[in-house]
Amino acid sequence: MRLSSPIHLLDWAATAAWDASQVVRSTTCSGKLSAFCPRTYDVDPKSGFFPPQPLPRLPDALSVWEDALQEAPGVLFLAQDQGPQAIAKRPAGERWRQKIRSMPLKSIDAIRDDLRRLQRAHMVLATIMHYYVHSLPQADVEASIVVPKSVAVPLSAVSQLLQIAPVLTFADTVLWNWEFIDPTQPLSIDNMRYVNNFSGTQAENNFYLASAAVELKGVEMLDIFEGFMNLRDATDTHATSMLARDLTRLVKIIEELESIFVSMRNTVDPHEFYWNVRQWWSGATSKGPNHPGWVLEGVRSADQADLGGASAGQSSVMHALDIFLDIDHRLQDARTPAPSDNNRRADHGFMDRMRRYMPGLHREYLENLSSVREIAERTPSLREPYNAAVMALKRLRDSHIRIVAIYVISKANSTPPANIRVDKPSASQRDGPSRGTGGSEVSTLLKAGRDATQRAVLK
Ligand code: HEM
Repeated sequence: MRLSSPIHLLDWAATAAWDASQVVRSTTCSGKLSAFCPRTYDVDPKSGFFPPQPLPRLPDALSVWEDALQEAPGVLFLAQDQGPQAIAKRPAGERWRQKIRSMPLKSIDAIRDDLRRLQRAHMVLATIMHYYVHSLPQADVEASIVVPKSVAVPLSAVSQLLQIAPVLTFADTVLWNWEFIDPTQPLSIDNMRYVNNFSGTQAENNFYLASAAVELKGVEMLDIFEGFMNLRDATDTHATSMLARDLTRLVKIIEELESIFVSMRNTVDPHEFYWNVRQWWSGATSKGPNHPGWVLEGVRSADQADLGGASAGQSSVMHALDIFLDIDHRLQDARTPAPSDNNRRADHGFMDRMRRYMPGLHREYLENLSSVREIAERTPSLREPYNAAVMALKRLRDSHIRIVAIYVISKANSTPPANIRVDKPSASQRDGPSRGTGGSEVSTLLKAGRDATQRAVLK
């Protein structure tokens, strides 16, 4: 397929630069004297990075996007799925994609100033984009995959307002993709239901639920970080004993996060996860350089946009923890032991890159958060609790590495289920070591992150 229109309707590069004053904000911290106010960054005291309520549907003028999303499940299957159900649905799938190609190009003016509806539009359009791309028969793909302008242009426009990548992200799959089971009850892991599920599997649903459990547990950490940021003098006796108590609390929270990670072994089937689920989240660069790129039709300079796809590496809660403890993923500080050769070979820009897939306000929250490490270094009574928190995070990363070994690395050489056709790549097409959906070489990356964590320990 070729670009159907020579007209460039939106220029990604011209407007994609981060301008905090332009971003749509839901609320400010008026009336509160604190210097650091998470609400300013759309971080809620009870729901954290989740919006406090499920996102409202788009207005009638944009219902064509909502309708297209609602029709997708059960009609669209991965292009490589050769199962009887997938084959039976091929004609319906082609009709759906045809409808997307001929969908009118809609303006986003009606939602331009409405943060929640912009988020909803991003979730709806990015999900449609991934349904479209990953169901497209290989025979229809030439050098690159063309995302029709009816989706690409408004998705790029809302992404610029939200300052987020124009592709499926962790926010679309986990933060913005749920509804209450009982709307009269507060947000909790037992009172939320995930709505869109690409693969229709329990593995996908349970991955979202486990990620949500991490986010909700993370709210307790955000409370600790806010308390720290609003200390007038972090070195007075009262403040240091509060910090010591909070660092000890943090150890407990990180251990609970680790239990959530470990519990996924019982709820997320590795084979289903590898072959049916994560394929849907892949972006243009996830599979390495030997796979077709994506062209955002109607968007000029789209080659400068981040199209890596969704990864839990985009969870702001986890990044906040790294910042608070000052984990040096970039290997910029002189810490011991010196990084190994493998550590040096890892993708040091990965964590920074993942931030570009977060909503701009959440990224801004992270940019304004400070670390407790320097104070802990200067204060003998804080060294031990600080080190305990670092070591708890190191153990969490060890558990995560074990999970990734089971779910990704060992699966890369496993036999696909009977319905999934995998064309054996030629020697020149082989992509090398296992990649995550974020496109990184997984094992080296995660071990480098674990080692960088351990290096934060104060000697
Ligand atoms: C079946 C469970 C999981 C699997 C198979 C998995 C897989 C991966 C992979 C392959 C990466 C490498 C980066 C990339 O995406 O390219 C990664 C990174 C990451 N994942 Fe997971 N993940 C799982 C669960 C989670 C959960 C529940 C969270 C928390 C919300 C999480 C948080 C992270 C973070 C923060 C990174 C960045 C690297 C780091 O901080 O060490 N993961 N994960």
